[in-house]
Amino acid sequence: MSVITSRLYQTLPLTTPLVLAPMAGAAGGALAVACARAGALGLIGGGYGDLEWVKVEYAKAFALATESIDTVAAVSSLTNTTSPTRTRLGIGFITWRLDTDASALDWVLDQAHKPAAMMFSFGNPARYTQRVQQHHIPIICQAQRVDQVSQLIDAGAQIIVAQGGEAGGHGMRSDQARGTFTLVPEIADWLAKHSPNTLLLAAGGIADGRGLAAAMMLGADGGLVGSRLWVTQECLAPVAALQQAVNAKGDDTARSSVFDVLRHLEWPEPYDFRALRNDTHRQWEQKIHQLRQHPEAARKNYLEGVAQQDFTRAHVTVGEATGLIHDIPSATAVIESMTHQARALQIRAK
Ligand SMILES: Cc1cc2nc3c(=O)[nH]c(=O)nc-3n(C[C@H](O)[C@H](O)[C@H](O)COP(=O)(O)O)c2cc1C
Repeated sequence: MSVITSRLYQTLPLTTPLVLAPMAGAAGGALAVACARAGALGLIGGGYGDLEWVKVEYAKAFALATESIDTVAAVSSLTNTTSPTRTRLGIGFITWRLDTDASALDWVLDQAHKPAAMMFSFGNPARYTQRVQQHHIPIICQAQRVDQVSQLIDAGAQIIVAQGGEAGGHGMRSDQARGTFTLVPEIADWLAKHSPNTLLLAAGGIADGRGLAAAMMLGADGGLVGSRLWVTQECLAPVAALQQAVNAKGDDTARSSVFDVLRHLEWPEPYDFRALRNDTHRQWEQKIHQLRQHPEAARKNYLEGVAQQDFTRAHVTVGEATGLIHDIPSATAVIESMTHQARALQIRAK
């Protein structure tokens, strides 16, 4: 009998050291439950703090989880699962946006079903963490550089996510982004020295068991996965967008602010956004200043693309891991397959 050993299980009732990234608008209740069912932590994408969306998806998650059986526990004797799926559901928020409206966070904290964990990304969460700690909810914070980590620990992070620039969606802008392969061990060393009880997840480019095993070899306690779990049956994004990701290579993505400007998203420095480098991206990537000054025509073209599901014009949010994604399975199957592959690689390495 062998399971992937991880310190993560001391804090969270998981049977695999994997976490669904809280992808805004895409990681709804169904995706979170599909991951939790397979033993991972399912973080709902609370994103920009849209209260109505969070109410619907959070309620959906707990309703689905209550009906669900734990398939891993049911079919596998390799696990020692005793926790029900609903103890593996959490939520994440974009920190800087909470400064405008934290009503969704407060609503979640008022619910009878408390989240298993709450994640904060992109900014200093110190204003919000005390109210989360009062409920004894573990806090996960995403960092992109080593020099952000001490502030996040001071704010109450029990788990740090080290996000490399390969990641899909928002992250550190390209001229300051770090690669996952060096960021993870450097933060692991920093934590070992300064805060040994703080756990570490790797993020950015983990799309199969090789990535998970490698992340753990680099010193992470597990992996946080976005792109691979975005391209699944439970994702809320249109299937036509997922198909674009299946067809793309890792070479086909790029980081910039193009799609933030087109979507009226006022992201602060120093963050930008990785997506497929489609026609819209190519047209504006060297002319961001011009786009900011006169966005009207480009916005019209982009919005038409969204309405028509024309992804040469509309954005497709995936990271470099897109080149490792060749199908659109259920998220439960993805988690199970990553876990089995990582476990086999670890056994072989012993
Ligand atoms: C479609 C998509 C949406 C994302 N939205 C968020 C978000 O709302 N909040 C957040 O903290 N991270 C978000 N991320 C970034 C993830 O937290 C994570 O760092 C990243 O997906 C990891 O890299 P990977 O995409 O290679 O797995 C998003 C990622 C993707 C692919």
